[in-house]
Amino acid sequence: MDGIVASASSEIQGAGLQPRRAPPCTFVVFGGGGDLTKRLLVPAIYNLACAGLLDDGFSIVAVDWAELSDDILRAQFHEALQDFVAKRGTAAAVLRDDIWRWLNTRVSYLRGSFEDPATFERLGARIGSGNAVFYLAVAARFFGTIVDRLGESHLTDEVGETYRRVIVEKPFGHDLNSARELNIRLLRTLRERQIYRIDHYLGKETVQNIMALRFSNGFFEPLWNRQNIDHVQITAAETVGVEKRGRFYEGTGALRDMVPNHLMQLLAMTAMEAPVSFDADAVRDEKSKVLKAIHCTGPEDVVRGQYGGGVLGGTPVRGYRDEPDVAPASRTETYVAMKLAIDNWRWAGVPFYLRTGKRLAVRKTEIAIHFRRAPYALFRDTPVDRLTPNIMTIHIQPTEGVTLQFGAKIPGPTVRLGGVRMKFDYSEWFSEGPSTGYETLIYDCLTGDATLFQRADNIEAGWRAVQPALDWGERTEAAPLCPYAAGSAGPIEADALLARDGRQWQDLAE
Ligand code: BG6
Repeated sequence: MDGIVASASSEIQGAGLQPRRAPPCTFVVFGGGGDLTKRLLVPAIYNLACAGLLDDGFSIVAVDWAELSDDILRAQFHEALQDFVAKRGTAAAVLRDDIWRWLNTRVSYLRGSFEDPATFERLGARIGSGNAVFYLAVAARFFGTIVDRLGESHLTDEVGETYRRVIVEKPFGHDLNSARELNIRLLRTLRERQIYRIDHYLGKETVQNIMALRFSNGFFEPLWNRQNIDHVQITAAETVGVEKRGRFYEGTGALRDMVPNHLMQLLAMTAMEAPVSFDADAVRDEKSKVLKAIHCTGPEDVVRGQYGGGVLGGTPVRGYRDEPDVAPASRTETYVAMKLAIDNWRWAGVPFYLRTGKRLAVRKTEIAIHFRRAPYALFRDTPVDRLTPNIMTIHIQPTEGVTLQFGAKIPGPTVRLGGVRMKFDYSEWFSEGPSTGYETLIYDCLTGDATLFQRADNIEAGWRAVQPALDWGERTEAAPLCPYAAGSAGPIEADALLARDGRQWQDLAE
């Protein structure tokens, strides 16, 4: 991750460290005719090409079973790219013709089943003997089969300096056991260093920035512990419902969909110890350690909710049970809030509250670090009845930045305090163009940097941390499912979870 991350700051520091061009590679996408490829992967590759980070020996082979041809696929990619750049709404809102011509000639389609050895034989002929990345943008049930077939066809064999890498999309398993089994299966064919398990949250600049913020500044780290921090809140609120993914979501739910992966990444970045270097294993060792120290505090500290009908942005929206491909009496949660403890020297006694849900009032992902209150004694004989809490909020999306909240004297003859905010907004300081979040991840895989990918033990530690909550939710029909209206801040039971501890959630609307 050095190159791309460094380039973001070079503007300010004048470091001028330019990322190097990735080595030549055939980028094979299983599921290459699908939505993820068009919406995210191809735009990310286009951005990398614009930045001059791809070699002339780069090409894309899309593998899928749909009846497509090279020309149809190229036309679809072209349209997807036009949509993508149009959304920028700036001078960059026009597709660069030189880049498209460069890319166009490097795209080809291979039709075949993901299970049929013949597909892999033809793929082998297409790739030849050079570097290759195999991106599994397919339903999770194909992950194991595709890797088995790649191995049987010797497509994952690395000869000399040549690399062969596999990028595995989410979901990686549906619980701890299945994640373990999938790891075992993949590791029969691949070495760990060939596997790039993706979590797209790690492609977000602001998520990567958590480490920079914590470890490149002298004043946060001394405060970053149980002596000074009262609790931490991590929120990933979405306004979208399940969209067209009802079938997938029914068997998944908010807990599996968001917590062991995305929210655990946010938590690990916030709570881990400083790694000794940016070396992939040094970072992943620290993440693993902190994830292993997490435990769920009890069934009463997990709140599961499901959205009913409501109003969002002035428009009436239907409830979850009325969404397509959702059972009329579904008990799948679309919201989860939970309290976690981290049992180590830095964090013992500091609760981490997590919440995520669909169809909430606003879209917002943030981490709020609530510091302990200052002693009140000094203000006893003043009109101040309580002190403003100090909160540092790391805004991940849609706004990107950091806010510090603290108390200041309100001008006037008496001592009165007001809560004020100091805000750093990413977009005011850096002029990086909009990205899909996949640029860094693809570039890092092409250059062999696995820092932002999950190692087998990281994945398993994420699942292990939430496994008790999964068990409590599933073993008993009595596990309550709390309704909330679409467009609200979530179920009131989630407020009660914090109120029991004398705390409250950050206001979603702020
Ligand atoms: C995906 C989940 O992994 O992340 C989706 O499957 C969710 O349900 C999405 O909407 C959220 O990602 P982002 O980047 O919009 O926060």
